[in-house]
Amino acid sequence: MDSGTASLNIVMVASECSPYAKSGGLADVLGALPKALVSLGHRVAVVLPRYMGALQVPAERINTRLPVELGGWRFDPAVCRFEADGVTYFLVEHQGLYERNGLYGDQNGEFGDNHLRFGLLCRAALEISRLYFPADIFHCHDWQAGLVPLYLKAFGGHPDPMLAAAKTVMTIHNMGYRGIFPKAKMPELSLPGWLYRADLVEFWGNISLLKAGLVYADAITTVSPTYAREIQTPDGGFGLDGLLRAKSKVVTGILNGVDYGVWNPETDTYLPAHYSVWDLSGKAECKRELLRQLGLPEAAMDRPVLGIVSRFADQKGFDLIGQVAWQLFQDDVYLAVLGSGAPYDGLFRGLRDQYPNRVGLRVGYDEQLAHRIEAGSDIFLMPSRYEPCGLNQMYSLRYGTVPVVRAVGGLEDTVQSWPPEQSTGFKFSDYTGQAFLDTVRAAVRAWSDREAWRRMMVRGMNKDFSWQAAAAGYARLYSALHPFRSGRL
Ligand code: ADP
Ligand code: GLC
Repeated sequence: MDSGTASLNIVMVASECSPYAKSGGLADVLGALPKALVSLGHRVAVVLPRYMGALQVPAERINTRLPVELGGWRFDPAVCRFEADGVTYFLVEHQGLYERNGLYGDQNGEFGDNHLRFGLLCRAALEISRLYFPADIFHCHDWQAGLVPLYLKAFGGHPDPMLAAAKTVMTIHNMGYRGIFPKAKMPELSLPGWLYRADLVEFWGNISLLKAGLVYADAITTVSPTYAREIQTPDGGFGLDGLLRAKSKVVTGILNGVDYGVWNPETDTYLPAHYSVWDLSGKAECKRELLRQLGLPEAAMDRPVLGIVSRFADQKGFDLIGQVAWQLFQDDVYLAVLGSGAPYDGLFRGLRDQYPNRVGLRVGYDEQLAHRIEAGSDIFLMPSRYEPCGLNQMYSLRYGTVPVVRAVGGLEDTVQSWPPEQSTGFKFSDYTGQAFLDTVRAAVRAWSDREAWRRMMVRGMNKDFSWQAAAAGYARLYSALHPFRSGRL
């Protein structure tokens, strides 16, 4: 056990968890942090919806009708349980609400009943804890888990003594998603009208479920120290910066980690060849195979390939590439792109049509190709408008794929661009096509000095962002919330 901390029971509540349900980095965090906490001696459970994609998971149905009421209706989901790597997983099963294509929406847009889908998740998590896994801490991730602190604390303490004593941690993975719903949905979530106040759940004429979590949580974290500062400013706070400033004493940034069991070029089973700092030759083979897979010319072997793996969300800043594409391609570089969603799918399709020999594109979700782009590219691009943490730049560092990033959030905290003899990547600050182009060009010039470039790759590959440090940070936070149990006082 970590010195000064006692073993605690942690219940995590989230809408994604790798490998069972993933749309982005949230799933990677839920796939790794619980295991890392278990290895520090804590007991950890994860409560998730059982989406269509998780139906194959071999889990025991431990309850066929968990009594859960929401807005006067009985939802009574089933509960399935399984264990992996010492972590207990509870899947909340409700055919009508969860068994669909897509986690949050489909080709017709966001599902209209997401408030119910995740309201039920929060209510069910409390019941599951009461019956099967007593919690010292509820660790709630993003708006989908935001009602847990509210249901626990808003009504003068929970009648169940275990739940009444539990503390709550709310982790913000992305301020861009605040779980905003019309005020009229409040009764469906069992939220009485008095909660509709500017200092409670009201948000510009609607309600915000993230705000509900932030208001009632005992501690608030986000996924990098720089993002913890940015969200307390009008630019980064998406309208919740005032609340976060008011609670700034309980706001901290804990940098995400990398699961090197999954993201490691020495062992990655998705790759056609393996490599390490000792022998980089396999990386060239990964590049050759990537070019073949994306239909890019063999000539690109002698030029830099710029990789992108991303949700195509506005946050990711790819309009900067659109602005300078014609100048970028004058430099004889190649793009290997994998992504899904809107709005940038159109931009990349357009670039592929305009520069068919330069742009290899796959639109969709493809786990194998994500790993292959990390391994087979020379440079990795993340020009994000904002980036709470970002995992791909950390994966890139480990794969010897030098990141070019905008100096925001976790990108600022994980990529070092100065002094040159210690640098692991390239950064720019101004959100302009010119700043982005200048920085990519600097990277392309640096790539030409093959020996200096190899040293930069190796510096990045030797960086250690494993989950241990992050897990220890969360463990310290949990025990600070339970000073008597942790034996610190
Ligand atoms: P975000 O959570 O904002 O999407 P991160 O960098 O934290 O950004 O994490 C993204 C995760 O999702 C990475 O594991 C990345 O490989 C994965 N990913 C994103 N888009 C795709 C895709 N189209 N196919 C496969 N994996 C993807
Ligand atoms: C979010 C953020 C990303 C972060 C991830 C995991 O989706 O956009 O920056 O790495 O959550 O915390």
